[in-house]
Amino acid sequence: MTMIALKGRVLSFDGGPTDAPTCHEHGAVLVRDGLIEAVGPAEAVLAGLDPGVRIIDHHRHLILPGFIDPHLHMPQTQVIGSFGTELMEWLAKYTFPEESRYGDFDVAKAASVFLVDELLRSGTTTAGVYCTSHPQSVDAFFGECERRQLRMVAGKVMMDRNAPPRLLDTPERGYAESKALIARWHGRGRLEYAITPRFAPTSSEAQLEATKRLAAEHPDLHVQTHLSENHGEIAFVAELFPQDADYTAVYERHGLVRRKAMFGHCIHLSERERSALGRAGASAIFCPTSNLFLGSGLFDLAGCRAAGIRVGLATDIGGGTSYSMLRTAAEAYKVLALRGQKLTAFEAFHLMTAGNAEAMGLETRIGRLQPGLEADLVVLDSHATPAMGWRMERAGTLAEELFALMTMGDDRAVVATYALGRRVHDRQGLAETSPR
Ligand code: GUN
Ligand code: ZN
Repeated sequence: MTMIALKGRVLSFDGGPTDAPTCHEHGAVLVRDGLIEAVGPAEAVLAGLDPGVRIIDHHRHLILPGFIDPHLHMPQTQVIGSFGTELMEWLAKYTFPEESRYGDFDVAKAASVFLVDELLRSGTTTAGVYCTSHPQSVDAFFGECERRQLRMVAGKVMMDRNAPPRLLDTPERGYAESKALIARWHGRGRLEYAITPRFAPTSSEAQLEATKRLAAEHPDLHVQTHLSENHGEIAFVAELFPQDADYTAVYERHGLVRRKAMFGHCIHLSERERSALGRAGASAIFCPTSNLFLGSGLFDLAGCRAAGIRVGLATDIGGGTSYSMLRTAAEAYKVLALRGQKLTAFEAFHLMTAGNAEAMGLETRIGRLQPGLEADLVVLDSHATPAMGWRMERAGTLAEELFALMTMGDDRAVVATYALGRRVHDRQGLAETSPR
């Protein structure tokens, strides 16, 4: 049995998206064997504890559930910041050529190591990850996450048309390779497999039929794909699937609109599409830095919420431009401002933690600081830079402090990251070594 206690300003978004968080200014989180044992005022949590239990005092820093990033692309870490295109041209010109390199396990391994390091440096402990169409890219990514005992959701992209030959599988291969990867990885440690058709334009009718079969055989698995990101993409889908009323209907017809199905972007949905997603318990994933960078459009948070859709907030590396969920939340605020909507700090931090856990169907494991949940934690310094420290002199409330933190913060504000109560990132370079 191993026990560790963390002291600091403990913050958890235990209610709904607009509720105030649970906050213990002089708080503590007690962790036993990787799970949260107790949370509350430090005096109460630490009372009567065996003197041998290690206590790490984070003083004035904030202790929150680790950030969750429900949509990003492992093979796009070297695509970020590619100039001058919108979605379909960006895929053809930059992304598909880059992803073609990932048939090489060593390329995928190096990128996976880099990505996981960078996520942990940014305070992100769980992500929904697209690998490439090459199964070895999934082996590389999951292998790295298993080594670090992280909770991660990932899948092999299925795509059999409208891309370079080196990226294409076939309906049979996509099905068989996904099936083998599920058998190899799903439920191993904290890893979960996601059925991952890239998006309707790169899958034939036959591939979507095979995907339908796969999804029906694995009703509890995640599904992840893209939906309604860009006007050119939507017009292309209408051309490719003339029998379907709209883009969402293509996925509905193939049994892919359901709980734990995560649809990236969802910017230009009709009322019918929104209510279909809401009724099915599916999730819409808002990726603001990507949507601004690729000029895709402005996500309608209020419209999605009104339709009962679970909403997640994600980086979408590498259409997205930052690994930091703080930066991502800051851009979400600006996107919504352009729509005449407001994102409060409490709502943003709820999204990054409990909200994203719910959008990923992982709320019984992560996302809140509650006994029995996994002790994935991020420790934040709202005074991380001189400019932030100076700004915080005038922050009178927790809401003001958190809003300025998300507006000005990034990886520099991440003091430490813990996975299962083990320190996996430390700003001062003191991370405990990973188990072998
Ligand atoms: N739609 C299909 N593939 C992709 C991708 O890799 N990135 C983004 N942003 N949209 C997509
Ligand atoms: Zn994406």
